[in-house]
Amino acid sequence: MAEPSGNNKAADRGRGIVIPDDWPGYRLDLFTYPAHYSEDLDSVYIPHGVIMDRTERLARNIMDDLGDHDIVVLCVLKGGYQFCADLVERIKVLSCNSSKSLLMRVDFIRLKSYLNDQSTQDLQIIGAESLSVLSGKNVLIVEAIVDTGLTMKTLLTHVRSFRPNMIRVAGLLVKRVPNSSGCLPDYVGFEIPNRFVVGYALDYNEYFRDLNHICVISESGKQKYKV
Ligand code: HPA
Ligand code: MG
Repeated sequence: MAEPSGNNKAADRGRGIVIPDDWPGYRLDLFTYPAHYSEDLDSVYIPHGVIMDRTERLARNIMDDLGDHDIVVLCVLKGGYQFCADLVERIKVLSCNSSKSLLMRVDFIRLKSYLNDQSTQDLQIIGAESLSVLSGKNVLIVEAIVDTGLTMKTLLTHVRSFRPNMIRVAGLLVKRVPNSSGCLPDYVGFEIPNRFVVGYALDYNEYFRDLNHICVISESGKQKYKV
């Protein structure tokens, strides 16, 4: 995580692709998406192809910085599974096709803090017992979305307690929120406005993970899947 005084190459690359507040997204009918969500979305915010292209570049940045190390990739479930799988895939391709290679182990942790589109206070960390394998290792935490950064801070404190050698964080999305903790991932895919997005494994009450694009949910979609 890049603290304000952070001193690593990754921090310099900053905010990733910055999506402005007035970005309306693309019209839904310009893309394909599952018919069962046809009433539930307002727009395609980040098309799947763009996510993949950006992920490819993040993989290269990670490889440039960490290549020839051994790392443990720590995937933050559930939302991070797709980004993590695609990022690991891209790093694998680079390891086959360049002189550098990155030996990766992949581990999983599950965090839960959202109900409907609101963050709740109690953060549950599930599957943390196995983190003793992180001792002395270089850890790459892979998260789908960082908003206030508080979840990330809690997780970092937890991971640090297992005494890894180094921790880096890759976040596909960073939300511009007023109450940001100032803790940002070292590798950022996109900086987005403070809107609730779904798709590419990001959910609203467990729905919309089966959507390739990152989309904005409609009011009727929110009502339909409210708990
Ligand atoms: N979408 C889905 N899950 C989330 C979001 C979001 O915008 N922000 C934090 N968790
Ligand atoms: Mg969720």
